[in-house]
Amino acid sequence: MSTYEEIEASAAAEGVVLDRLTAEFMLKLSSATAIATSASTSKRKRRVGFVGYGFLGKNLVSMVMSDPRAQEVMELAFVVDLGYPAGVMEDTNLPEAAKAASLENWQQYKADLIVEVAHPSVSTNWGEAFLEECDYMLASTTAFADKATEESLKAAASKPNGHGVYMAAGALFGSLDIQKMSDMGKLSSMRVIMKKHPLSLYPTEGSEQHRLNEQAKVSGSDAGEVTLFDGSVRDLAGIFPRNVNTICTAAIAAWSSVGMDNATACVITDNTLEKMIIDLTLEGAKNPETGKCLSINVCRDSPAAISGAVTSQATVTSFLSSLLHVASNPPKGDGLHLC
Ligand SMILES: NC(=O)c1ccc[n+]([C@@H]2O[C@H](COP(=O)([O-])OP(=O)(O)OC[C@H]3O[C@@H](n4cnc5c(N)ncnc54)[C@H](O)[C@@H]3O)[C@@H](O)[C@H]2O)c1
Repeated sequence: MSTYEEIEASAAAEGVVLDRLTAEFMLKLSSATAIATSASTSKRKRRVGFVGYGFLGKNLVSMVMSDPRAQEVMELAFVVDLGYPAGVMEDTNLPEAAKAASLENWQQYKADLIVEVAHPSVSTNWGEAFLEECDYMLASTTAFADKATEESLKAAASKPNGHGVYMAAGALFGSLDIQKMSDMGKLSSMRVIMKKHPLSLYPTEGSEQHRLNEQAKVSGSDAGEVTLFDGSVRDLAGIFPRNVNTICTAAIAAWSSVGMDNATACVITDNTLEKMIIDLTLEGAKNPETGKCLSINVCRDSPAAISGAVTSQATVTSFLSSLLHVASNPPKGDGLHLC
């Protein structure tokens, strides 16, 4: 009912004569109910933009376009691949309106959430700008190993504009438990051992690790395990920017205690491996009297889909679930959030 006349006529049909004040009140009530109903039925879907259209990007975009659970809560804003733009522009499965050849006019796509599934340099070059306008979910957490990028992301995420950084757990099991243990002051050390096939490792060209890894690719199956790196997580990330996101995410979760400078990691190449292994050990504070401490060990042993891939299928599943979770829940606002 939208007029006095309609309200009066409806009351008269029930044998009631309304005074003007009551009719006015009923009109206001009827319009407030209409507004509330329309707001709840047209709950807006979150518009999601993707930077990177490789293995992870394709899986996530496909979920947004075809999974009924995803379609209820999100829609595609844009897809861009700065390393291989034609991969996006020539893909007939993507809607034309969502194809972007570059990030030049990214604001025009009005994304609520931008997902990086490309390279840590995206966070260095664009992270701060994205956070001015929307939420930012990043897969390449090795970006945090670079101090300048870390500082700019943290500053942008803590600006009181309601936009935050979301970090998917990816291949890391128990990220929230690590965070809790760290925040409660119960974590004194963290060590991660990662083992991969040399074809799935991408050390920076020119580094000693690159030379040793190339050697491992061509050596016989009796070469066994070769340790490429053993040291701090921060130093590791610069050498393997595409491989050690899981390790960096663990160190970020433990920000308030060990962090990237005190968490240690060891990377091993082995050309007989048909899986990716992440072995994480956490230790609590030593009891001064007994010298003993709590120790937690989690070993993730994931079959590698194809030689040369940096991401296993189990990690894709974990990312899909993180994105679905983020889009299905109200934004968490400013800050760094594990998801
Ligand atoms: N957090 C985690 O646990 C986790 C797990 C797996 C992968 N990752 C990271 O996610 C990212 C994507 O993984 P993937 O398996 O899809 O890799 P991929 O190599 O299959 O795809 C990456 C895509 O990004 C594009 N790209 C490369 N360099 C770029 C740059 N400088 N700027 C913009 N785009 C660029 C490439 O053209 C490619 O299409 C990688 O950085 C990877 O290390 C993180």
